[in-house]
Amino acid sequence: MKFSIFVASVFLFSSFSLYAEKSPEELSSTCLGCHGVVSYNNIYPTYKVPKLGNQHKDYIVAALKAYRSGERSHTTMKAHAANLSDLDIDKIADYFSSFKAKIATPEDVKMIDEANSCVGCHGVDGNSEVPTFPRIAGQYEDYLYQSLKSYKNGKRNNAIMNGVASTLNDDQMRKLSKYFASQKGMLNINQGRVAIKD
Ligand code: HEC
Ligand code: HEC
Repeated sequence: MKFSIFVASVFLFSSFSLYAEKSPEELSSTCLGCHGVVSYNNIYPTYKVPKLGNQHKDYIVAALKAYRSGERSHTTMKAHAANLSDLDIDKIADYFSSFKAKIATPEDVKMIDEANSCVGCHGVDGNSEVPTFPRIAGQYEDYLYQSLKSYKNGKRNNAIMNGVASTLNDDQMRKLSKYFASQKGMLNINQGRVAIKD
């Protein structure tokens, strides 16, 4: 008797968790409300919601955990990451990193001098080969500029990037953002919705 109750509850429990199990696509669908809209803007300050397609899995995992813990501050992203389990984060990161872009061969890239200090980590065109270093190739220009400014003024914390950005002036940050944004790499998961361009 006891045994069958045990079996029944194990069965109930496992079918419940099977039911509750969400696929990577389901977990990512709310995210696409912003990350799947081409040229969608964050407001105050205004810059585009970053592209996530083709980003390295490890970097997406780290970014979501940093929002969840509050280590990286952004009110909306903290709210979206707050209830995600480690497993959810892993699946979401699988989903966004599964989109692959055709990227340039290093010989085809016309590098600018300002990028010399970046390529060791982010690659010649911004397609880093180290999965914990984000791809910045093809990312929105104003998001890249916003990120560099935030590292420089300390609003975004990362020991490496705070050091790198402290050496850059505004003109260099603008040139670098333009350069990396013009490369092929990051993809918008286009859901057929395009925000009105500003
Ligand atoms: C209301 C719009 C909105 C929604 C919904 C949203 N995001 Fe974001 N997300 C943003 C904005 C804006 C940023 C840039 C924040 C910053 O400057 O740190 C961002 C940043 C990120 C980053 C960091 C990108 C990078 O290059 O560092 C990741 C990863 C991310 N979001 C994943 C998600 C996931 C996963 C979901 C769904 C669970 C989600 N977002 C839902 C607006 C949104
Ligand atoms: C020693 C390695 C290293 C070097 C050199 C480096 N970066 Fe980074 N970069 C990183 C790491 C690691 C991160 C992720 C930091 C974080 O989690 O906030 C990052 C993040 C960034 C981001 C934010 C990307 C995003 O999706 O939010 C930008 C933009 C960036 N780097 C630009 C540059 C530029 C431009 C240079 C050269 C002037 C440069 N980096 C040099 C390692 C490096």
